[in-house]
Amino acid sequence: MTIKEYMTQNHKECDELLAQVESEVANKNWDKAIELNDLFKNETLKHFDMEESYLFPMFEERASTGGCGPTQVMRMEHDQARTVFPKLEESLKEKDSDRYFGLTESLMILIQQHNLKEEQMLYTMIQNLFNDENETIIEALKNYEFN
Ligand SMILES: [Fe+2]
Ligand SMILES: [Fe+2]
Repeated sequence: MTIKEYMTQNHKECDELLAQVESEVANKNWDKAIELNDLFKNETLKHFDMEESYLFPMFEERASTGGCGPTQVMRMEHDQARTVFPKLEESLKEKDSDRYFGLTESLMILIQQHNLKEEQMLYTMIQNLFNDENETIIEALKNYEFN
């Protein structure tokens, strides 16, 4: 497996978790929705952290982007997505499915565009730069700890 494949698969896992929360909300299973939303949030924040604290700094150093470049935009978009989680949690606590679906609709658009940019551009650049260290990096990603 390549770094690019690993990270792309992780995007899909987060998407699937969100789809599961949505189906619990649609069925008004609020406790289950809250439980799965915690998983979705943790997986997504872990993914962002893997990028911001591990992959992006490695890339910035080797590609000598000097703090600008594609990773800056990616970090900003992560921050945008992070602001949505407290609102999602609120809407679930209030059992407000209209508000919840309004929030996930815009979150989905943001995340889909973001993920596409990473998968088509940034991960490809990272793969090319770090192809020789592929196995080591995959191991580090698999064992990545986030709390
Ligand atoms: Fe990202
Ligand atoms: Fe990503």
